[in-house]
Amino acid sequence: MATRAKARDTAGEASSRAQIAVLVVHGPNLNLLGEREPEVYGRTRLADIDKELKKLGRELEMKVETFQSNSEGAIVDRIQKARGRCDVLLINPGAYTHTSIAIRDAISAVNIPVIEVHLSNVYRREAFRHHSYLSDVAAGCIVGFGPIGYDLALQAAIARLA
Ligand code: DQA
Repeated sequence: MATRAKARDTAGEASSRAQIAVLVVHGPNLNLLGEREPEVYGRTRLADIDKELKKLGRELEMKVETFQSNSEGAIVDRIQKARGRCDVLLINPGAYTHTSIAIRDAISAVNIPVIEVHLSNVYRREAFRHHSYLSDVAAGCIVGFGPIGYDLALQAAIARLA
């Protein structure tokens, strides 16, 4: 919560900046957050994460748009659509993190700085979750802090674009 409070403290600073457009992409099965393996992913629902992100975005003078899909192609389409329209992309690609060259290529193609977010600490989990096809084309990664990781990513986006 301290982080959220700190982010709000920076809202004053943000008022002198042009509005930053942020796209947040959530990958497969993240629509089930709150019910899905709560011991791993917690009890916060995706709608609540999105609501909090939009609220924080307003305070930081960022325009936050959110998108969730279980389909790889739909995620690629949404990333392509962001080209020239978004300043920064936050993405939790879910299991596609570990499999999708198509999402990686879309990220490389659009030339938008990307912050990769994972709710769980993937490095404490199964070996197949340790490899990400995105991390080396991302500006940075936030892993293992639950929903607050998205807030941290918004703050990181401001720092990155400053
Ligand atoms: C996840 C981690 C992935 O390995 C998993 O497939 C997910 C969620 C996370 O946020 O911790 O669906 O991206």
